[in-house]
Amino acid sequence: MKIALLPGDGIGPDIIEQARRVLDALRLPDVTWFEGDVGGAGYKRHGHPLPPETLEMAKAADAVLFGAVGDPDCDALERHLRPEQAILGLRSELGLFSNLRPAKVFEGLQDMSGLKPELAAAIDLLIVRELNGDVYFGAKGQRITDDGRREGWDAMSYAEDEVRRIAHSAFRAAGTRGKKLCSVDKANVLETSQLWRDVVIETAAEYPDIELSHMYVDNAAMQLVKAPGQFDVVVTGNLFGDILSDLASMCVGSIGLLASASLGERQTAFGTFGLYEPIHGSAPDIAGQGKANPMATILSAAMMLRHSFGREDAAARIEAAVAKALADGIHGGDLGGSYGTEAIGDAVLERL
Ligand code: IPM
Ligand code: MG
Repeated sequence: MKIALLPGDGIGPDIIEQARRVLDALRLPDVTWFEGDVGGAGYKRHGHPLPPETLEMAKAADAVLFGAVGDPDCDALERHLRPEQAILGLRSELGLFSNLRPAKVFEGLQDMSGLKPELAAAIDLLIVRELNGDVYFGAKGQRITDDGRREGWDAMSYAEDEVRRIAHSAFRAAGTRGKKLCSVDKANVLETSQLWRDVVIETAAEYPDIELSHMYVDNAAMQLVKAPGQFDVVVTGNLFGDILSDLASMCVGSIGLLASASLGERQTAFGTFGLYEPIHGSAPDIAGQGKANPMATILSAAMMLRHSFGREDAAARIEAAVAKALADGIHGGDLGGSYGTEAIGDAVLERL
C-alpha cells in the first residue's frame, strides 16, 4: 500500500501528523510512505506549488493523503504559482473527477450546529461534487474592453461525457445509501446547467430504483438550512459543490469535522486510486500552534482505507473512535473546546 502524504501549508503538517499516527496504530501490513511538498511549501522549496517530483510521487502511489494549501505570503504571486494550483493541478492531472463530501451530525453535537438541534440531528447527506470541469477549469483572463473598461472573465462549460460520469458516480453512491439523488443546477439561467440536467435525466434510465429530483442551486442553499434532512445524495458541478459543501459543514457544526475523497477511474491492486483531504483550508492564523482539529484529516484517512484499500473494517474503526472521542467531549477550538491537535490525536488513539 503506497501512500503519498502531502501536508502542504499552514496547519497541514500538524493535522497530517495526527492522521499518520492513527494509521500507524492500525499496524496495516506493507505500507510504504512517501512525503512531498505542495502549495506554498512547494513554491518556497522548489519554485512551484505542484513540483514535478510531487506529481510523480502522487501518480506512483495508490492513494494520496492531503493536508491543506494556502499561504498568505503567496497571495501576490501570479495565479499559476499560487498554492491553490497544487490541489487543482492534482485533481486534473490525476483525473479525480468525483469528489465525495459526506456530512452527518455526530452524536451529541446537534447543539454545535448553526441550525436548530432537531434540524441538525436529521442531517446525513453526501455531496458528490464534480471536480475536473466547470468554470474552475475553463478559459479565463482579464482584458480591456473596446470602451476601455477592465473586464475579468471565466468560461463555464460541461461536456456531456463529463456530466455522465459524475452522474454515474452519484447514482451508484445513492444506491449504497438512501436511494435518493438530488441534482443541483441553475438550469433556469445557465445553458451549462440545462445540458447537465438533460444528461442526468438520460443517465437516470439506468438506475430505476433511485428516486431522482432536481433543484436550483439557490433553492438548494435555502433547503440545506431549512430542512437538511430531506437530502440523501446531492450531485452538482464544481463551483456549486464548493459552495454547498462549506454550507453543509456549518449545518453539521464544524468544518473541522468534514472529510472528503476525490476519486477517478484508475483502479489499484486494492481499490480505486484517490486523494483524501479535509474540506477545510490551511488556517494560517493558527498554523504551528497545535490548535487545529485533526479530526477531518483522520476521517479522510478512514475514507482512504475504505475506497482505495478495501479496508472497510479499519475505516469503520477509525470513524467509531472519532465519534466516541466527540461524544466524550473531546472538542477542539472549532467546537468551542480546549483540546489541541495532539491531545485530539491522543484521544482518538486511545479509543481506537
Ligand atoms: C475546496 C477548496 C478548493 C476549491 C480551493 C482551495 C481551490 O475550497 O476543496 O473546497 O475551491 O475546490
Ligand atoms: Mg471549498
